[in-house]
This record gives sequence, C-alpha cells and structure tokens, in this order.
Amino acid sequence: MRIGILTGGGDCPGLNAVIRAVVRSAYLTDDEIIGFRDGWGGVLDDATVPLGIDRIAGILPRGGTILGTSRRSALEHRDVVAQRFAEHRLDGMIAIGGNGTLFAANELAADHPIVGVPKTIDNDLSGTDRTFGFDTAVQIACDAIDRLHTTAESHYRTLVVEVMGRNAGWIALHAGLAGGADVILVPERPFDIDEVAERVLRRRSRGRSFSIVVVAEGAAPKDGDLVTKGRLDPLGRPLLGGIGHWLEQELEERTGAETRAVVLGHVQRGGTPTAYDRVLASRLGQHAHLAVRDGAFGHMVALRGSSIERVPLADATAHLHTISDEELDLAEAFLG
Ligand code: F6P
Repeated sequence: MRIGILTGGGDCPGLNAVIRAVVRSAYLTDDEIIGFRDGWGGVLDDATVPLGIDRIAGILPRGGTILGTSRRSALEHRDVVAQRFAEHRLDGMIAIGGNGTLFAANELAADHPIVGVPKTIDNDLSGTDRTFGFDTAVQIACDAIDRLHTTAESHYRTLVVEVMGRNAGWIALHAGLAGGADVILVPERPFDIDEVAERVLRRRSRGRSFSIVVVAEGAAPKDGDLVTKGRLDPLGRPLLGGIGHWLEQELEERTGAETRAVVLGHVQRGGTPTAYDRVLASRLGQHAHLAVRDGAFGHMVALRGSSIERVPLADATAHLHTISDEELDLAEAFLG
C-alpha cells in the first residue's frame, strides 16, 4: 500500500513518535509511507518527503515534528486534494492533528481514505480519553511551579503562572494539583477577582507568606473579556495570552502583596516527550497504520480506558472535552 502521513496544527511532544511507529509498522508489511510537509499545506503544495525506515532513526525522543506543521486548511481546495491522492496513488492518508486538522480530515474522508490520530497538549478533543502531549505539558508546567514555589516563598510573593489551554483548563488543573497551587483558574469557570484576592489573603492570614496561582490562558473574569494579544492566528481566532499579567496587577492592588506573573507559553509544547507520551504516541501510530490496512477510513484511533479503539472522525470535533463542574468542585479540596 502507499500511505500518506501529515502533522497539522500546533506542534506537540510525541508527533515524531507517531510518525516513527507508522513507519516501523509499515516496514513489516512492505507498505510505502509518503510524508506530506506542513499539514494539509503539503498536500496543497505537493511538498513530500519519502519516509523510509532510515529516515526515522533517532526521532522517538525528539519534540516537534520532522514533517513540519501548519494550520492551513485544504477544504477550499478539494480538487487539489483529489489530484494529489490520484497522483501519488494513495491507498490511505494518516492525518495527525487537533481540532482543525481532524475537522478537515472528517470532511475529506467522505471522498478519500483517511484515518486520524488525535493530538493536542490541551487534551480538549472529544472521542478520546487523553491525547499525547498532554502529559508532557503538565510535567513541564509542574516542574515550573515547583521552581516558582521556592522563589515565591523566599520573597513572600504571589506568583501567577499562566499556562496554555484555550478552551479547556486541563493543563492548569493537573499542573496546579500536582504542583500544590492555591488557586487554579480555568476557561470552564469564569472567576471573581475579589474572591481570588480573598483566597490569597486568607492563606496569608493562616501564616503562609506566599501564594501560587495557576491560570489557563483562556480563563476570564466573570464580568470581563478574554485577554488577547490583539492579533489573530492563521485560523482567525484571537491569539490568547496576557491573563497572567492582568492578574498580577489586579491581585497586587487588592492584596497589597508583591505579585509577579510568569507565562510558560511554548515551553510547554517544546522538547522531549515524557515516557508516557512516547508510549501512547507509539501505540496510536501503530494502530493508525493497521486501521488503514483494515480500511477503517473515516475513523481515528483513540485512547479509551487503557485500549486504543477506532472511533468515527466526527466524534473528535463533535464537542470540546472540557472539565466538568463536578471535577472542578472536587479539586477545591486541594486548593488554598
Ligand atoms: O494547541 C493548542 C494550543 O496549545 C493552545 O492552548 C494555544 O492557544 C495555542 O496552541 C497556541 O498556538 P500557536 O502559538 O501555535 O498559535
């Protein structure tokens, strides 16, 4: 078989592990893997790279993606996509990506043999219990919080740590719980700035002279707006970022305690994946190749419980996988 593969959307630790697993699995069945550069952009531009077994040596622990990535969509150029499938005599295509990439994959799967692999550090895709990259992002954020603890304590400061999470606060919640944060703010639950300040003061009145506040970039005050950079990303969505610095000012004013913000940003997406993400990504890559061989097109491979299952591609983007009220309420017990 001749099988294409592409990585789209924001990069994510574990993408190379998926590519490697696809190529290794294909090596066993003599299938040919053709890499398309920069997501759907490589399909439009016909930018390809042959992915033989030699090409994937040493990529397992590497962050990023050897194929490059972009947020370009192919949906407005379906004729070009059809031409590319024909020219390359593709028997299948493995599209690895998040919301945008898998939305396009699902639409195009009506006419083409496509299998998806869900990817996002935000863990906000539905149809899967967990995405690779999330564990790495949480570990990086947790390490940062651990480090910030000692400097916050030494200076009697409040430290606000802004992490990624556009629509879902999974990274903030997990890193905040693992790092022993006093306050965790997520997009799912708009916050009252006075209550946040009170919580910081309450903690100080109990004799703790520092505080750690973890905030997802998509979190917003109850009666306020999202804090953005005032620019749009290639998909036309506002570029998020800045809520940490907004909180720095508001909390310092309200509590009188010296407050500093730290924005972790793309550090959370860079570098080597954790062992957990390498294993999950490898399993997904192998299952994606087997799904193509079985003709399970229009599906993605997804972690359900502890197994990898095939679920309709439409399920990935059917709704956002966000934190429930119940989970947020339970987390309260560990805060402050
Ligand atoms: O992939 C999701 C994400 O990590 C979001 O949390 C964030 O808003 C976005 O990527 C930022 O990506 P970029 O800087 O590549 O536009």
